Amino acid sequence: MAMVCLTDFEEYAKEHLSKATWDYYAAGADECCTRDDNILAFKRIRLRPRILRDVSMSDTRTTVQGTEISFPVGIAPTAFHCLAWHEGEVATARGTEALNTCYITSTYSTCSVEEIVAAAPNGYRWFQLYVYRDRKLSEQIVHRVEGLGYKALVLTVDVPYTGKRRNDIRNQFKLPPHLKVKNFDGVFQQEASVPEDYGIPANTLDPSISWKDVYWLQSITHLPIIIKGILTKEDAELAVEHGVQGIIVSNHGGRQLDGGPASIDALTEIVDTVQGRIEVYLDGGIRTGSDVLKALALGAKCVFIGRPAVWGLAYKGEEGVREVLQILNDEFRLSMALSGCRNVAEINRNLIQLSKL
Ligand code: FNR
Repeated sequence: MAMVCLTDFEEYAKEHLSKATWDYYAAGADECCTRDDNILAFKRIRLRPRILRDVSMSDTRTTVQGTEISFPVGIAPTAFHCLAWHEGEVATARGTEALNTCYITSTYSTCSVEEIVAAAPNGYRWFQLYVYRDRKLSEQIVHRVEGLGYKALVLTVDVPYTGKRRNDIRNQFKLPPHLKVKNFDGVFQQEASVPEDYGIPANTLDPSISWKDVYWLQSITHLPIIIKGILTKEDAELAVEHGVQGIIVSNHGGRQLDGGPASIDALTEIVDTVQGRIEVYLDGGIRTGSDVLKALALGAKCVFIGRPAVWGLAYKGEEGVREVLQILNDEFRLSMALSGCRNVAEINRNLIQLSKL
């Protein structure tokens, strides 16, 4: 079967993964309005292509946090890659390294950060972090990834509690016994009587996390801090005031608050507030190269894909991740050329038909 676009990988994954695993990856919160709107909102945006601009040469390279990547698409942090492919995150890391872009490793990886770094020693990586009630746990993992050469910390702030994902409840979703949240292997002494929340004891995350924890994080690391899960200009301003180095506009793929905005619909107010003081990225609903173009035109420096990377893994591990990224790269290059852009610096808001927004 020829894999032509990202939805081909989605169909493959749906057919080949177990129902509980597919449901877990696909899940949105409650009625999935926000999850679905992440996709639909991109399709509502129309472009204003320019013509006769000699697009015989095109350059998709950009930088994030001062590091060059081959094109402005990275891998968002998603949990439990071993559910999709036996090598799990090791395969994701290799596939991303091959395309020379950024891989944000999830805290909830089923390979350890040491295994991931050893598998793709030249990969460019950030680490996604949650703040635990036991701050020591968070602190230990920060020092571990700093020592391993991770280049930034991505602090996910939209999970004071886990969203209500109906099918996971119906399926009584649990990590199978042969898989573990490897970064915390042996740390959580899980007793059968303690309720579990996606592979870790329930109530491990700290719902009292607040802006002062950003200062705490800054006090224990030299790495740049990127906040993931901002959807309003008010919080974007606070992020800048607290001295972080980046924002990922994200609603967690619609898995947390249902009824919140599509990420692409929240992007403009955040970009306008930040005014270039820090980099703004986006994830949620990126499925084609023209989605990437639209997000960049509205001010994102780079975008990240969550579920499509997992579909690639489910298809063929490392090779599948590579193929997904390569297809997006090719589509993005083509959309750039067809709209008259020769490089990413030429992509700006004039490309968007604002009257349609
Ligand atoms: C996620 N996401 C996520 N985010 C995070 O910060 N830490 C995590 O461990 C996870 N785990 C996770 C698992 C699964 C199965 C999904 C689908 C998502 C959210 C993820 O980083 C990202 O915000 C969305 O996936 C982006 O939306 P798309 O690209 O899936 O539409």
